[in-house]
Amino acid sequence: MEEKRIQTLALKELKELPPQFIRPANERPENTKAKEGVPVPIISLSQPHHVLVKEIAEAASEWGFFLITHHGISQTLIQHLQEVGKDFFSLPQEEKEVYANDPSNGKFDGYGSKMTKNLEEKVEWVDYFFHLMAPPSKVNYDIWPKHPSSYREVTQEYNKEMLRVTHELLELLSEGLGLERNVLKSSLGDEEIELEMKINMYPPCPQPQLALGVEPHTDMSAITLLVPNEVAGLQVWKDNNWVAVNYLQNALLVHVGDQIQVLSNGKYKSVLHRSLVNKEQMRMSWAVFVAPPHEAVIGPLPSLINDQNPPKFSTKTYAEYRYRKFNKHSQ
Ligand code: SIN
Ligand code: FE2
Repeated sequence: MEEKRIQTLALKELKELPPQFIRPANERPENTKAKEGVPVPIISLSQPHHVLVKEIAEAASEWGFFLITHHGISQTLIQHLQEVGKDFFSLPQEEKEVYANDPSNGKFDGYGSKMTKNLEEKVEWVDYFFHLMAPPSKVNYDIWPKHPSSYREVTQEYNKEMLRVTHELLELLSEGLGLERNVLKSSLGDEEIELEMKINMYPPCPQPQLALGVEPHTDMSAITLLVPNEVAGLQVWKDNNWVAVNYLQNALLVHVGDQIQVLSNGKYKSVLHRSLVNKEQMRMSWAVFVAPPHEAVIGPLPSLINDQNPPKFSTKTYAEYRYRKFNKHSQ
């Protein structure tokens, strides 16, 4: 029987990658190497406010991606988050399967791996755990990992920090558009803004140069805040090249997602990115998606639109946006 989980497959220590993971030549890391020597923006949140607004706006416009330092989240908390995630993935397989999700029936929450739908469709070399973290009224703690037992406490603590940093970033991004600082936050639903946690676990891969951990995509969120483990693998698309994102201890990686691109009418770019896998080492990342509630109506902000700047995107509910993106309709 074909293994459903990448982790179980990796344990077999195969010499060769099974065919469903082998990318077409033009997608393979061996043929699409990252450009060397291009530094990604690193922004310290402790700078004077006007400098910060300018740097964030530039990075969001030119890259749609940046690292932040001095964000006020303690290194201990980040380490705890990483430990509880690693501990979950180290549980016996049958304990993890209790949390198995079922995306084909719209149930994305829980433990998952992307499955092939047909022979052509290639599979990513990653297993994940996905769940909502905010707002509290929508969170179902019953589907969060119960082991390790500190998972919930640590993740709730991290969620508080994610909310604080999210609000700060949305204010800075609003000011970078020349608008009042609350504009983006209120357009995204204020207290209804949703935070989702996705823990990605990429086991060692026998032929990493032929596979992808996550294929090229933009996030449909407003922004995504990510911490990786120390194994590099994330690449972002900039000026027609892949650029590798080096590990920087304790930094948060910020992706501008589709909803901020739409609200800013394209001033801020939603970044195309992918992740590669490693032959010897397990890679992990903790991505927090910041998104509007499904019923929120998202379109270019009216104050950015005039005769010289017509809307570049249509206005629709986030539910419709998601539906179209999942079904690969035009947006
Ligand atoms: C993703 O963007 O889906 C994953 C990125 C990462 O693992 O670094
Ligand atoms: Fe992503």
